[in-house]
Amino acid sequence: MNPASSSERRDVLHSWCVQEAWNAPTVTGGRGARFWDRDGREYLDMSSLAECSNLGHQHPAVIAAIQEQAAKLCFVTAAWGAEPRAELARLLLDKSGFEGGKVFFTLGGADANEHAVKFARQATGKTAGLIVARDRSYHGASYAAMALSGDARTQAQADPAAFGVLRALPPYAYRCPFGTTSDLACGAAAAAQVACLIDEAPAPGAAAVLMEPNAGTNGIVAPDNYWPALREATRQRRVLLIADEVMSGFGRCGEWFAWQRHGEAGRPDLMTLAKGLTGAHIPLGAVVLSREVAARLEHEMLCTGLTYCGHPLACAAGAAAIRAYEQEDLIERSKDLGRRMFERLKALQAKHPAIGDVRGGQGLFAVLEFVKDRATREPLAPWPESPAALRALVDAARAAGVSFATRGNLLLLAPPLVIGEEELNDAIDLLDRLIGNQVFA
Ligand SMILES: Cc1ncc(COP(=O)(O)O)c(C=O)c1O
Repeated sequence: MNPASSSERRDVLHSWCVQEAWNAPTVTGGRGARFWDRDGREYLDMSSLAECSNLGHQHPAVIAAIQEQAAKLCFVTAAWGAEPRAELARLLLDKSGFEGGKVFFTLGGADANEHAVKFARQATGKTAGLIVARDRSYHGASYAAMALSGDARTQAQADPAAFGVLRALPPYAYRCPFGTTSDLACGAAAAAQVACLIDEAPAPGAAAVLMEPNAGTNGIVAPDNYWPALREATRQRRVLLIADEVMSGFGRCGEWFAWQRHGEAGRPDLMTLAKGLTGAHIPLGAVVLSREVAARLEHEMLCTGLTYCGHPLACAAGAAAIRAYEQEDLIERSKDLGRRMFERLKALQAKHPAIGDVRGGQGLFAVLEFVKDRATREPLAPWPESPAALRALVDAARAAGVSFATRGNLLLLAPPLVIGEEELNDAIDLLDRLIGNQVFA
């Protein structure tokens, strides 16, 4: 362990780990799809660190925009106007086609989701309206966001009922909770359950449904029919649909926003953003509201705000990030390269019986689910335990200079959208060798 790591281990309280077990290298630099530590070891980043460095590390145009804004003006309170804030709001409304809508800025994904829920409740006039969210989801780690999340790690900490949250079962076609045997049947059954929950919600009734349209921390990629069916069910019932695009947005799923794959049939009433919004160069989150939702808030007091809402440095980074995605054609690149990555992963599945399922493929996002037995689909470890074999595989990959992310039985692939095709293929070749060497039983 290097000296900086040991002092960090002593002085910093780290997230999502047992403190005494934390022992990570200190990262001192990065460029494109690679970063390196203070001992000079370099890593190819196959998870965009926290599925957020979509533009790669140290994107020069984003850094220049931050520097320029820092030299000009670092801070303006939300009570006054700020040019980068207005510019970024305009860009987001353009890219999402939310003409006539509005954007509220937050500091990250959790507070974006909490604010989307506040706005949905206020706009529907149901101040204590119920929110339908699902199991095996993740919407953040502040209290209300934990209650919205159906996440095994946080469920003991925030009671969904106390926050007015109803839970639906996930559209997890590989292990369908409704017992169906096809993706589409699972998607239809899961959307029908959401409709039932709305219909049977106790007074004051449901105000909104909050879900991810595609990729996610918990490794469930919804079948194609799920999101449009949710849209239809919520529209018929006059309940708002909130798309959590914190992870799936900004090219991760081959579109600016994952719902756009379904065209107008997938357009939500609100959507939440973070991560790829600035490519993680500066923390920033946002809620994008449709024209109708924004109109309902136009003449009422909005009783919320954060000191750093729409911070100029973060908004300048966000505007530069959007221009970079556009100029480098990264959304289209993610779609093309993601398709090829998916084909290679399907070939790995055909070769290695330990890979039970491969999901994703719409962009540079894919999930491999590992099993003990392909025929029975017996999990490598009960969810959400992390199996020793997968931990060993990730450690060996890291020693070989490639950084992968895992969650339970899942390996999540979400490289920066700027990754070279050769780099990507090298990482998959390494995965192939490591899976071949590892015993999964
Ligand atoms: C889908 C989704 N929503 C919300 C969040 C929370 O975002 P943040 O960590 O910025 O609060 C995350 C973070 O991983 C996420 O993946």
